[in-house]
Amino acid sequence: MINRCFVPFPELETERLRLRQVEKSDVEQLYEMLRDPEVAKFEYFYPVTSKAESLEFIERYKTELAVNEEITWGIILKETNQLIGTCCLGDFNEGARRAEIGYDITQGQWGKGYATEAVQAVMDFGFNQINLNRIEATITPGNHASVKVLKKLNFIQEGILRERDLIKGKLEDGIIMSMLKRDYTGNSD
Ligand SMILES: CC(C)(COP(=O)(O)OP(=O)(O)OC[C@H]1O[C@@H](n2cnc3c(N)ncnc32)[C@H](O)[C@@H]1OP(=O)(O)O)[C@@H](O)C(=O)NCCC(=O)NCCS
Repeated sequence: MINRCFVPFPELETERLRLRQVEKSDVEQLYEMLRDPEVAKFEYFYPVTSKAESLEFIERYKTELAVNEEITWGIILKETNQLIGTCCLGDFNEGARRAEIGYDITQGQWGKGYATEAVQAVMDFGFNQINLNRIEATITPGNHASVKVLKKLNFIQEGILRERDLIKGKLEDGIIMSMLKRDYTGNSD
């Protein structure tokens, strides 16, 4: 079984980042990220147009957490104490001990290794703390930066799922990438 106990909220820490629950006080920085068409380009959501809409995202993170459907961390840059992104685990499958990972970084902070650092921390949490066996991601073809993040972490690209997801009204293929617990530990049993 997956140990989906998210109370108290599991804060994570890396060299440069703190991963914690997204608070209402993060709304300015979250808005900055979610309003950007480049951030939303391959995502399900359209760029938000107001802070009120960004607050709705924060409310949704809370609701999803309360019902153990998805956990979203705010990615906080320790140096400035500002939110620079989010990372989530969701789509849990209890029997197979599987979850899907997602991540977004505000454009001004791209290319500094922050997504890789945050995903590593969430992956460590998934395998070591909540007993996952498989962490996967589906990435829209063309999202090279996202594929690169997971490749740097040794996720395996398994193939293309044809017309897997409806994204902004269009059926899109998904590049399926995964990491198994045994890949992660280097243990072949
Ligand atoms: C994908 C995303 C989270 C990456 O965040 P990031 O903090 O810039 O990621 P990192 O710096 O850890 O790594 C990105 C890598 O991709 C590379 N990269 C960036 N753009 C690229 C491109 N067009 N083609 C190939 N590689 C690219 C970077 O050079 C870097 O690799 P390197 O460390 O070897 O130089 C960020 O681009 C983003 O938020 N995009 C919009 C939202 C999104 O698509 N999320 C993922 C949905 S599946």
